[in-house]
Amino acid sequence: MVFRTVATRSPLAPACHVARAYVKPKTQLNVRAMSMRARPSTPRRVVSGLVTVTAIVAGAAFGVYCLDSRAGVHRWLFPPMMELLTDPESGSKISIKLLEHGLAPRDCGKDDEVLRTELFGKTLTNPIGLAAGFDKQGEAIDGLFDLGFGLVEIGSITPEPQPGNPTPRMFRLPLDAAVINRMGFNSEGHEAVRERLHARLHKWVQRVLSAGEGLVSSVGAPAPEPTALAEAQVFANYPVINTSLLDDAHVPRSLKQDRLLSINLGKNKSSREDSVVDYVKGVQALGAYADMLVINVSSPNTPGLRRLQRRSVLEGVLRDVVTARDDVAKQRIDSLPLVVKVAPDLSDAELEDVADAARASKIDGIIVSNTTVSRPAGLLSTQHVHEAGGLSGPPVKPLALHALQVIYKRSEGKIPLIGCGGIMTAEDALEFARAGASAVQLYTALAYRGPGLPRRIKDDLAARLRAEGKTWKDIVGSGLRDVPSYAPDAVNQVGLYPGAQDAFDRSVASVRHEIEQLRESFEGHASEERRALPFDIDEHDDRFKELLREAHRVTDDVPHFNDASSPQAGVLPQRTSSVPEHLLLMAKERGLTQGEVLHEAVHDAAAVPQAPAPALAASHSADATPMSTDKAAPDHTTLGGLKGHEAKSVPEAYRAPSTAEKRVV
Ligand SMILES: Cc1cc2nc3c(=O)[nH]c(=O)nc-3n(C[C@H](O)[C@H](O)[C@H](O)COP(=O)(O)O)c2cc1C
Repeated sequence: MVFRTVATRSPLAPACHVARAYVKPKTQLNVRAMSMRARPSTPRRVVSGLVTVTAIVAGAAFGVYCLDSRAGVHRWLFPPMMELLTDPESGSKISIKLLEHGLAPRDCGKDDEVLRTELFGKTLTNPIGLAAGFDKQGEAIDGLFDLGFGLVEIGSITPEPQPGNPTPRMFRLPLDAAVINRMGFNSEGHEAVRERLHARLHKWVQRVLSAGEGLVSSVGAPAPEPTALAEAQVFANYPVINTSLLDDAHVPRSLKQDRLLSINLGKNKSSREDSVVDYVKGVQALGAYADMLVINVSSPNTPGLRRLQRRSVLEGVLRDVVTARDDVAKQRIDSLPLVVKVAPDLSDAELEDVADAARASKIDGIIVSNTTVSRPAGLLSTQHVHEAGGLSGPPVKPLALHALQVIYKRSEGKIPLIGCGGIMTAEDALEFARAGASAVQLYTALAYRGPGLPRRIKDDLAARLRAEGKTWKDIVGSGLRDVPSYAPDAVNQVGLYPGAQDAFDRSVASVRHEIEQLRESFEGHASEERRALPFDIDEHDDRFKELLREAHRVTDDVPHFNDASSPQAGVLPQRTSSVPEHLLLMAKERGLTQGEVLHEAVHDAAAVPQAPAPALAASHSADATPMSTDKAAPDHTTLGGLKGHEAKSVPEAYRAPSTAEKRVV
């Protein structure tokens, strides 16, 4: 059209006519050629038909081949392609979308019986789980279960929506098969995720109804108990679909038989550092949709979050969340286990504190561990290693294993543990199991090894277990040589996230404050203890005086007062005491009170049938000190019903050391 307009109206018209004259015959030629192609000869038609059919069959075969997660393309073609063509965050977003819409492969194998395990009294067909962070918004739950995971964890989810840290915030370290991330809890918030979970449940019930399946048979569950409601009744009772329907039909929230859906709860960046409200809100908003809940106190990318792992704080946090969980659990038939997820960067003492706090607060389990803020010296990568954030993948494994081992030992295997950090192979999973993990989780390896990884690990695991004649359950906690944690000088601490310095300063200020408080309470406690202990005999009753006098006599010790300026004061408060020094020391070492150790000394002395040295008896009967008494009669009855004169000798254990041996109390 434009061409024609120009040709008729413009001064260039003659030239355009020439052009048209030139173009026209060529167009006619093309038309002729096309009409000739429309009538191919018979052999050509056969050949092209054959090619078409072969292409369709090959395409279908390739499609079927790709449907199976074990296909080599999912290991050797697609993951490297993703790595080459996408940045890490876009790569995982694309994967989530494919999984969400059923365009991803599936685990077509069957889980071997030897892989069955138990977590919190619930059975899992296999112990391999997906860790939090991959499906933060709960968009691809079913696609992820279809990859063969026994446990899928979504989140972390914060109460209010928040965007997380600015991009880029995720970095690949391909040489180490590792990732550094500082996502900062990018979350759509509780309400959006709750709606999504509810829609999933709704869709599932519709599908089950329209397929004419029973609710229970759709997850392959055994027939319900005779006491359970018949399925028809279940539907009748729940015209409006809700999660109680699942309880009555004995269907797990994963909507898969013997698999668990875990929901990981995080905190908003704007919430107070020490507040537990966000976790409590998470339990209330999302608890009904989960088979288990995780309290994440170990992300390195939210200011102050990791400080919640300190014993004094953690125990309080966990207790409050356990109470909230108990309220939610009352409304359902099955249990709702609550576990806490910790960092691999804690010292052994801190890890032991976590184990103690977990037991004290009656939490159900611990996930060990999250990402590390350290950069182990053995890293091969040079690019991105100094990016702020948490490191995941194989470099975390020694730290996570060590942490797991410490917690397992401290909790005496009484708290179920989930191992996580750098798991890539069946051998890795076995190491975590031996160190005490009832199940394991992975994330980073999935990105590098592709969607067939769960199946490959499971097959290899089953083969290894069968070769040993064992099951997974047999090897949990069966022992592992000590895994050394990295020496402190082998790691470089890095900033955690933009603004880390501010948060660090705040942390230092708060630790200082805490130390001050501890010092105050220690001093208060120490002076209380001093008041409670019978140091000053004038303040005590006659019974104590008698006992003391007797102890001095039987232990061959000259009564004296400690010199208030003596060097023994050290960092301890000054003491003034007339209790023999070596007995004080003994009391301290054995955790006895002074009264107890005195009593013991007198009692044991009485039991030794030897005559006292006359000089000794004489020296102790002298009225030379405030403790001396004219009541030192030979038949004087001492505390504990002992006769003073019956104390015949000084037992070795209570004998006062010579001056040279005297130790500072
Ligand atoms: C990109 C990314 C995001 C993560 N987000 C979370 C999260 O939101 N909550 C959480 O508890 N852990 C999160 N993690 C930690 C993982 O769940 C896991 O504990 C850690 O990566 C160690 O396991 P891996 O070496 O198998 O990846 C995240 C990890 C990565 C790599």
